[in-house]
Amino acid sequence: MKNLGISLFAIAVLVTVSVGATSAGWSGLLTIVIPYAALAVFLIGFVTRVFRWTKSPVPFRIPATCGQQASLPWIRRNPLDCPSSLAGVIGRMFMEVFLFRSLFRNTEMEIAGQRPVYGSAKWLWFFGLLFHWSLLIIVVRHLRFFLEPIAAWVNTLAAIDGFFEIGSPTLYLTDAALLAGLTFLFFRRAVAPRLRYISLVTDYFALLLIMGVATTGLLMRHFFPADLLAVKNLALGWVTFAPTIPKGVGPVFSIHLLFVCALLAWFPFSKLMHMGGVFLSPTRNLANDNRMNRHVNPWNAPVKVHTYEEYEDEFRDKMKLAGLPLEKE
Ligand code: HEM
Repeated sequence: MKNLGISLFAIAVLVTVSVGATSAGWSGLLTIVIPYAALAVFLIGFVTRVFRWTKSPVPFRIPATCGQQASLPWIRRNPLDCPSSLAGVIGRMFMEVFLFRSLFRNTEMEIAGQRPVYGSAKWLWFFGLLFHWSLLIIVVRHLRFFLEPIAAWVNTLAAIDGFFEIGSPTLYLTDAALLAGLTFLFFRRAVAPRLRYISLVTDYFALLLIMGVATTGLLMRHFFPADLLAVKNLALGWVTFAPTIPKGVGPVFSIHLLFVCALLAWFPFSKLMHMGGVFLSPTRNLANDNRMNRHVNPWNAPVKVHTYEEYEDEFRDKMKLAGLPLEKE
């Protein structure tokens, strides 16, 4: 509970800073300086971290153990779980990134009597997927603030998202889905004792911060409308590098924006970097062609080996006498 408390405190500090800076009239700091600084930290931090990962030596192919690798023609292989070609790797990565395929295999364990019993557990996969897809669509929908004229496909996406026309303004399905996903992920962590035990400040903070962004966004859309024209002018100012301090965008927007900036600036130092890391994960991005190619660790010390051919040459007579099968007569 201490870790959750610290995360809640950090969120409260962000709200206080935003409200304090707004009432002190530091709008320029909140709407121009901090957003640019946060974006710079995000971009530099993200690229540096990925670059550092690309420098890590990966001398071996790391076969995923979940599928049969390419072997003899009559052994049925699993080209997606254990691909042996680049096309297979792309397929596996695609399924991982867009469908969280490995999480689909998630299991849970319970002790029944004296024995551990394993069962399938799909809820994490379902709500995880729901959350990530909704977040992506919401971020893409925000392009309407940054584009003039707004691209037709952004409007189409928003129209599909608000298809059921629930309420006025329309409730976006992704907003509801995002909240459902976040609520599940949060309660899973905060309530399940085993997960609570391993949860750190950073785990709670990530969820609470994104919850904060979503909640303030929803508040603006449905209860405390922001001046959307002023927001659009501000966003267009950012992208054209000619930002002007907006007048009266509202306190909820200021909190929304500061949460987003905090998320951006913290992102490269947090576990959220799994967004970039998944592409560098050797169990996902290496083809398992170990039976076709011999991969030698480049920094192995030279070892004098005695190959089977040499062994057979050396002991051919004795092997023949003993009736052992020979590769070369
Ligand atoms: C990680 C980035 C962001 C996330 C996850 C996010 C999330 C949300 C959500 C869930 C909503 C509720 C309504 C909707 O879905 O459109 C919303 C609304 C809103 N957001 Fe964001 N937001 C982000 C970044 C931003 C930025 C950078 C701006 C500044 C341009 C912004 C401005 C707004 C405004 C003005 C609304 C109210 C829209 C309306 O009244 O229709 N958001 N946001």
